[in-house]
Amino acid sequence: MKIAFFDSGLGGITVLNEAMKRMPREDFVYFADTAHVPYGVKSKDEVLTFVKQSVDTIIQEEIKALVIACNTATSIAIAELRKIYQIPIIGMEPAVKPAIEMNRSSGKRVLVFATPLTLQQAKYRELVSRIDDMGMVDSVPLPELVQFCENLIMDGPQIVDYFKDKLDPFNLSTFGTVVLGCTHYPFYSQILSQILPSHIQIVDGSKGTVNHLMQVLQDSDQLLSTGDGHVKWMCSSLDDAYIQKMTKALAFLQTVK
Ligand code: DGL
Repeated sequence: MKIAFFDSGLGGITVLNEAMKRMPREDFVYFADTAHVPYGVKSKDEVLTFVKQSVDTIIQEEIKALVIACNTATSIAIAELRKIYQIPIIGMEPAVKPAIEMNRSSGKRVLVFATPLTLQQAKYRELVSRIDDMGMVDSVPLPELVQFCENLIMDGPQIVDYFKDKLDPFNLSTFGTVVLGCTHYPFYSQILSQILPSHIQIVDGSKGTVNHLMQVLQDSDQLLSTGDGHVKWMCSSLDDAYIQKMTKALAFLQTVK
């Protein structure tokens, strides 16, 4: 049985990459909703429909767990999906809590990058208001970064200028951590670390998500100790070129990290 990863596009590959490193024996299926990417600038209802359609297809594979490797899809659809399907479904949310903990003693601020739709949700506002008792969090939507990523523009002056422009309103000496709250964004961790002052740490949810996934599989005695580890690539549009794009994106991550 395989472990399924789902995202609107290439973003979830940043989480798949982490899972492949930690569980090299497992077989994976990766599904990108290429017919509807990007999600982050669409309406809640549209995204809920697209996620349900995608999961209906994914579930036809023999899978033992499903990772919603997309913060936007998680915030919109995870509760609904858990009502429909019996298999373990692991979601993602921006790593605001660990980021606040990391900065509690220094009093430094936390900058959260995510899609507009994630940041608009009550789920996100509640998460922040529950843990940000000192008002240390600033949130910035980066929808264009998803487009750069989908076009495999992973570095270069255009990306540097984009980040500099988005960071310009902030006094970065007062910040301790940047949270990448969209799975497309960790493709830019390295370039971002060169732009940010060296004291700022960058965190994303992939390690925590994979820890959680492994725990769930271990608890049900489903972690494999033998096997070659394959990835089956799937997308919602009939697009062979996109399969190549996905393997290129994975190869990019394997070279930068
Ligand atoms: N990768 C997704 C996320 O983690 C969404 C990107 C998009 O489709 O806008 O939020």
